[in-house]
Amino acid sequence: MSIKFHSKDIISAKQFTREDLDMIFEIAARMEPIARGDEESRLLRSKYLATLFFESSTRTRFSFEIAMLRLGGQIINTSHVAFSSITKGESLHDTVKVVGNFVDIIAIRHPLVGSALTAAKATERPVINAGDGPGEHPTQALLDLFTILKEKKRIDGLKIAMAGDLKFGRTIHSLAQLLAHFDVELVFISPEILRAPEGLLAHLREKGVSFRETKDIEDGICDFDVLYDTRIQEERFTDLKEFEKVKNCYTITKELVGRGKEGICIMHPLPRLQEISVEVDDLPNAAYFRQTFYGVPIRMALLALLLGKA
Ligand code: NCD
Repeated sequence: MSIKFHSKDIISAKQFTREDLDMIFEIAARMEPIARGDEESRLLRSKYLATLFFESSTRTRFSFEIAMLRLGGQIINTSHVAFSSITKGESLHDTVKVVGNFVDIIAIRHPLVGSALTAAKATERPVINAGDGPGEHPTQALLDLFTILKEKKRIDGLKIAMAGDLKFGRTIHSLAQLLAHFDVELVFISPEILRAPEGLLAHLREKGVSFRETKDIEDGICDFDVLYDTRIQEERFTDLKEFEKVKNCYTITKELVGRGKEGICIMHPLPRLQEISVEVDDLPNAAYFRQTFYGVPIRMALLALLLGKA
């Protein structure tokens, strides 16, 4: 079945079936000792990854790069649009076409929705969407799901709340689509202006996923198994007055977690601003730093699959 991904692109969470998820998690679990540096690997020796990042990133770019390096591969990158020929007016299509002549695989992050698809059409090389503006972030969703599995030992039967910027938060858009493959109950928590896109909700309805929306972070906290929090995406607002109204809409505190279900797992794709108080970091419930690690074995699994080496 791993052959299905050989030379393919990863653009959207929609691409994955439940069987695909099981297979990716199985490969990622095998990659874990390599990701932790306990075992060495030369699996992707002589393969090159380009990370074309035209938006800020720490975790995502580093975890793609360390995943490639720990598998014995090599990396080249452009970490800012200011240092690429895009500033000379070159189209994304042309940039990607050229980079595709140099490397074996490309991970791209770009502020425009649909940019990863544009990139994928420009080259025969596999292209991985590492975030296309407020669109999707499928590899983050895979690592999020893998984290839930690691923390809660299952996904079916869980009640999962997603809070914050559900409108512009691409991690939410991708994760909700993956969760639709499971028997879960979803709760979307956001201010009115940051509600999840209607298209996403329609997709969940079509898939028969049970969900509700609320504005109140306290609403049902004693029931949630997982609370997946997100940053309000200031950079996506066209009117900063609107951002000011919602930027401090809530903060997850130790006290709030204490009122939650025992063992409630607090997740966040990071970076975190004020939406999770630092005092929460010391609680066993705080999974967000562990979550960042899981990006490495997940991205190792994806790189190996797309390069036909899984
Ligand atoms: C997220 C992103 O870039 O979408 N971060 C990440 O990739 N871990 C979330 C965010 O920027 O708020």
